[in-house]
Amino acid sequence: MAKRAVAEEVRHEPGVLLHRISQLVTMRGSAESRRGAAMREIGLMKDASVLICGGQIVAVGTSREVVRHPWLKEHRAEVIELDCRGKVVLPGFVDSHTHPAFVSPRLIDFEKRAAGAGYEEIAAAGGGIRASIDGVRGASEGKLAEHVYSALRQAQSQGTTTLEAKSGYGLDAASEIKSLKAIRRAAEQWQGTVVATFLGAHVPPPEFKQEPEKYVELLCAEVLPKVARQKLAQYVDVFCERGAFTLAQTERILLEAKQHGLRVRVHVGQLTNTPLAAIVAHDPVSVDHLDFLEKADVAALAKSGTVATLLPGANYFLATKKYPPARKLMDAGAAVALATDYNPGTSPTISMPMMLSLACTQMRMTVEEALTAATINGAHALELGARKGSVEAGKDADLAFFELDDYRELAYWFGANHCAAVMMAGRFADLF
Ligand code: NIG
Ligand code: FE
Repeated sequence: MAKRAVAEEVRHEPGVLLHRISQLVTMRGSAESRRGAAMREIGLMKDASVLICGGQIVAVGTSREVVRHPWLKEHRAEVIELDCRGKVVLPGFVDSHTHPAFVSPRLIDFEKRAAGAGYEEIAAAGGGIRASIDGVRGASEGKLAEHVYSALRQAQSQGTTTLEAKSGYGLDAASEIKSLKAIRRAAEQWQGTVVATFLGAHVPPPEFKQEPEKYVELLCAEVLPKVARQKLAQYVDVFCERGAFTLAQTERILLEAKQHGLRVRVHVGQLTNTPLAAIVAHDPVSVDHLDFLEKADVAALAKSGTVATLLPGANYFLATKKYPPARKLMDAGAAVALATDYNPGTSPTISMPMMLSLACTQMRMTVEEALTAATINGAHALELGARKGSVEAGKDADLAFFELDDYRELAYWFGANHCAAVMMAGRFADLF
């Protein structure tokens, strides 16, 4: 059993003993992102207990081991004990890629697609990302924050306790800053953890359609420095794609971000093939989508510290012919994460259990690989691997509880929510 000295300042808080958990997925031993065969090691424990105090995990082990923990013996009277028989408990999901700063669903695009139109065709006709801009520009920061907060609550109801949130539907200086402030405001009200990403480089907005370089200039000279100065985001993201930003524009923005002390991540290979080596050379924390990949890209990623984040919700919703090559990436030794890509155009879902289902049914990932990708590797994609993504002594007590007998059911049932409770920083949250 892993043990940890309890810091003096947390000694007086009541502890929580999660006792007799039927199946506990620990993901223990998670200092680095998981690759290859290690993605199948989920550290499963049966009849397990977790001792929590001061928002952190103090001990994890079999129920017999944990009840003998010296701290528990000393503080038994102040510890709330919960019987967790009949539950599967996991590290809360880490959804490392979402776009929650929008106001309306894109139902016209949805209808057009049902009638047979393609994503790029709809975007070229005025739909797509640009169709979400007016709503965001017209909304107050408070209204936008309400939308973001409602997304956080929906995520939490399905077991997510940490989430990355991008701006990217304002696409002018004021509206991008407003979006990031709305994300911050929503995050302050939520018990979970939010990591903010500046995605001013989502697409050039209509007023710059003929002069995208000028928009890149505005981002680099004005918006990005402001975001950095006001500490509104930890990351900068670019949509490097046909119809969005070229490789050269992407590289310019990445360099600028780094000069302002911001780390980078990139949307790439969603609709067309962009050679990855040039992007990986900028050492992004993650590259996301990767539907189109060359053999050499797979090798470059496997050699790098960059996490390959796969977003099968977008493939499902756009009904693309193929899903990202998860098996190739994992077999080559790349660190793979799964995220929802929650957004109004390509992936209107915030359900991580749905991603598990898609990963196992469409991408030939095993349940164990999918769980690793949705927890500890997601945490590493946000550089939070030391605090999140596994159930280990010393980590934040962020847990998801499911009314299931076997962890494999998490990926087996789809379109159903079996999440019974979530705990974030040691406190249970109302689910609905
Ligand atoms: O990740 N690829 C770029 N951004 C989103 C799509 C956003 C939208 O259509 O609104 C994505 O799929
Ligand atoms: Fe995205």
